[in-house]
Amino acid sequence: MSATATRRPLPTGRAHVPALLPVVGGGVPVPLATGGTVPYANLDLAASAPALQQVKDRVDEVLPLYSSVHRGAGWTSQVSTRAYEASRRRIGRFVGAGEEDVVILTRNTTDALNLLATAVPEGAGDVLVLDIEHHANLLPWLRREHRVLPAAGTLERTLVAVEEALRTNPTALLAVTGASNVTGEELPVARLAELAHAYGARIVVDAAQLAPHRRISLQDSGVDYLALSGHKLYAPFGSGVLVGRRDWLDAADPYLAGGGAVREVALAEVQWAPAPARHEAGTPNVVGAVALAAACEVLASLPEGALEVHEETLRSRLVEGLREIDGVRVQRIWHDSPSSIGVVTFTVDGIDPGLVAAVLSAEHGVGVRDGKFCAHPLLARLGLDSGAVRASVGVGTGSDDVDRLVSAVRGLVADGARLPCELVEGRWAPVGDPRVLPSWLDDDAGRGVASPCQGA
Ligand code: ALA
Repeated sequence: MSATATRRPLPTGRAHVPALLPVVGGGVPVPLATGGTVPYANLDLAASAPALQQVKDRVDEVLPLYSSVHRGAGWTSQVSTRAYEASRRRIGRFVGAGEEDVVILTRNTTDALNLLATAVPEGAGDVLVLDIEHHANLLPWLRREHRVLPAAGTLERTLVAVEEALRTNPTALLAVTGASNVTGEELPVARLAELAHAYGARIVVDAAQLAPHRRISLQDSGVDYLALSGHKLYAPFGSGVLVGRRDWLDAADPYLAGGGAVREVALAEVQWAPAPARHEAGTPNVVGAVALAAACEVLASLPEGALEVHEETLRSRLVEGLREIDGVRVQRIWHDSPSSIGVVTFTVDGIDPGLVAAVLSAEHGVGVRDGKFCAHPLLARLGLDSGAVRASVGVGTGSDDVDRLVSAVRGLVADGARLPCELVEGRWAPVGDPRVLPSWLDDDAGRGVASPCQGA
């Protein structure tokens, strides 16, 4: 903790910015370890975003009509089948898919990228990937011929390095994120698509972080494949998609073997269906697909620029507020990246990131993520071996949430934690944390269990 921390007043006269859209659980009361409750300031949307209220309304509408798809003759089966296939088309429209593109419903981005990794033809060349990726867009490619390029220096130098790598090595696929899940910096995906195509490669964009914040169109950008997750797009019901060119996906082995992926089965021979059914064996997640499509419709119906303006207002308020606190460093990959989504990662000199996050939660009811954000190579290159703290905003965020975070970090730097904290199983927590879990969890002895990725 900085002994020289100064307390500058928070900027005054700033307009209150309300949430852009209602989300389920917006402002839900959460307990403080210091006593009482406060409305939750959820600044962890980059990990998982709450359902939009309109998404929940659609789910409530479809649940009574839920039934098995593609098989049943009953009315609810027919409705569910129509709902599932309509969702596929609506999600495709949201990401500007072309007539020939295929929309495969998956569990999430990780699932979608693992599927695509099985479909890249053998002998077609390497998969080229930058070292800034989160693990979902890194680990699937490490299982096959690949090259990892350090995205060091400036963004412009990184683009030169990508071109050089494409020019000097046969490349099947360039796999890039649309925006960093660590720093929020956007990548110029249309330029990268042009580069990839100039050297005979295809490009997949991991849009898990980008799609909730910016519109992206496959057709307009020239991108060949795109993956995203419902749980980051305000539809946390277990669906994601892989969208893109049909040929590799029709030629690939089925991702899962099972019912729904076949045309005809004899013991001697199986006739597999083409994509998307080819890669969707088993009873699909109809509710998840409907929820994801509903989220796409709601976001698409926002007035042009509304989402971007809302988010940029909050992001810059957050960054400016943090930068005014001594010892707080907002992290970036490059200094020349022109735009960022509402994801901000920072460190506080002398205070472990896990402790910062624990204090924000326990004393202020603010939810952030700390650790290495499932992007270990990037954190190592940024010299953040102890991790960092990440705050992320979205359509359900208002300026009160951001101001509470800034004020809490300012107080922590100036005065330290109010409650003594200790490390419990590798995670910081107030000593004797008095917060109680909801009563329906009373019979479960596990408390504060962190996933392996959460702490990492
Ligand atoms: N992509 C997930 C996150 O950034 C793991 O939280």
